[in-house]
Amino acid sequence: MATEPVPIFTSVIDAHPIPAIATREAARFDALVSEFTQRFGHKPAYIARAPGRVNIIGEHIDYALFGVFPAAVEQDVLIACARRPDDLVLDGGERGHVHAQNLQPKYTPQTFAPMLRDAAITQNTEQSASSHVRLHQWHLDIDPRQLRWESYVKAGYYGVLERFFTPSGSAALESEPVNTDILVTGTIPAGSGLSSSAAMVVASTLAFLAVNDKLDIATPDAPTRRITKGELVSMAVENEKRVGVNSGGMDQAASVTALPSTALYISFYPVFHAEPVPLPIRRTARKAVWVCANSLVQSEKVLGAKTRYNLRVVETLVAARILARVLGLSALLASGDSKFTLREVLAAYVGSGEAKGAPAPALTPEQLSAGLERMLDEVERLRPARLAAREAGADAAQADAAGEELGLTYDEMVRFSGLDAAAFHATYLSWVEVEATRFQIYKRTKHVFSEALRVLRFRAADADALPESTLHDLGALMSASQASCSALFECSCPELDALTALALRSGAYGSRLTGAGWGGCTVSLVAEDEAEAFIARLVAGYPPYAGLGDEARREAVFATVPSNGAFVFKLG
Ligand code: GLA
Repeated sequence: MATEPVPIFTSVIDAHPIPAIATREAARFDALVSEFTQRFGHKPAYIARAPGRVNIIGEHIDYALFGVFPAAVEQDVLIACARRPDDLVLDGGERGHVHAQNLQPKYTPQTFAPMLRDAAITQNTEQSASSHVRLHQWHLDIDPRQLRWESYVKAGYYGVLERFFTPSGSAALESEPVNTDILVTGTIPAGSGLSSSAAMVVASTLAFLAVNDKLDIATPDAPTRRITKGELVSMAVENEKRVGVNSGGMDQAASVTALPSTALYISFYPVFHAEPVPLPIRRTARKAVWVCANSLVQSEKVLGAKTRYNLRVVETLVAARILARVLGLSALLASGDSKFTLREVLAAYVGSGEAKGAPAPALTPEQLSAGLERMLDEVERLRPARLAAREAGADAAQADAAGEELGLTYDEMVRFSGLDAAAFHATYLSWVEVEATRFQIYKRTKHVFSEALRVLRFRAADADALPESTLHDLGALMSASQASCSALFECSCPELDALTALALRSGAYGSRLTGAGWGGCTVSLVAEDEAEAFIARLVAGYPPYAGLGDEARREAVFATVPSNGAFVFKLG
């Protein structure tokens, strides 16, 4: 999948093969085209489209490089775009100016232009002498502390500028980015945990690639070829980091590589791999569907990043180092890669011979499951009392392993990492801002390994004829995931806990938060013939739905159908 070209369609039925959906989408495209034409005085050349995703299982483990199991949702972002005609350019000197508008009136029109600045970069050469090189770097003025809609548009633009328009050394630009008009619309509620941000960044990356004629790339040693889905995912992941969240690659990968009617098993180690998995829930004796329900608590990854998302990224990375020390994985600790993940600790522990970026050998799902089972025993050695006993040379196994875990202080965490304070800071904190009084190494690691195992068990339900009990098993895995997110990873919130509990009381096989958490949506597995009644029970039982009108309620609680991944639509 990753090596497949990014699709460019010229007919709606090719883009959306189900006729009813094609008709609906054609109407949306037409409306967007006429609105664009009215606002900008010329027609759009392309529509870039990227869907949101629902993560069925595998939360907060993508940045530890364990596989996840999302599907694209129908809700998406559309960006109509075109080169601004020369006669509309104001002072004639513009280069890559963007006039960005959004159909949502609350997102006000923005214009911005990238600046090419000199940056002195220190490079370590092979001879270990360091030298200064002058590089040009694009600057688009994104402030990660502010939630601004156009930041996501700029984030997509950055990658295109850097990849295709950055001169090396002092060379002049070979070509310049074009002046662009864009009009954005979308149906993914912001902060709903359905990845509106990744969809925005993917769509924006695609729009700027299209309008700058960079979807087909010329390489020195090969004929011109279309940019691949894997390349688009990497660009979008890097681009989104500029908005201030060090997210893993799940959302972008799901948005780009999704296929209708299937979920995706996405793995990141040793190489990025996305594999469509037919949905077991459509082959069970009693068919089931997924129902998303929005808690209506806005979950803004960007705003809470330093005490939530980015803190979790740092905790799991530090956990990998402490665990590697406890397990005596000296080769991993001595390797040049000073920041490594829990998945790499597992690889070293089971001696898989895997190496980041090298396609083979990779552990089979069975081997990976066996490794995770062993890790779930070893993780007990990360309990703070055990770590302290180990350091004091006492019998670590005797240390009290029960009771409430308070976590580690910053100083304890640094000590157990085996690094001095300066090296610790440089490795784990110099690139990110986090804030905490206690760091939860044990709890986070236990969540990551147990969640990774649940994903593999979920995915294994792929036999041909499945009894209804399979749905109960899958549901139990989802509910166990919720319990772990809530108690160990602490990424739930009272509303999500209440909504998942209500879902179970209302007949769901299983229910969990989806996405980063701290608000946003839940996803529940529900028998298809029960779905309508289930939705009615949720609507009646969750107090924040009480004041909503019909449309808002339909947007808040809905059965979801996996949709197609991102594409570019070329207008005639
Ligand atoms: C966000 C991130 C993803 C992933 C999830 C949690 O959606 O963007 O990369 O980490 O949170 O599973």
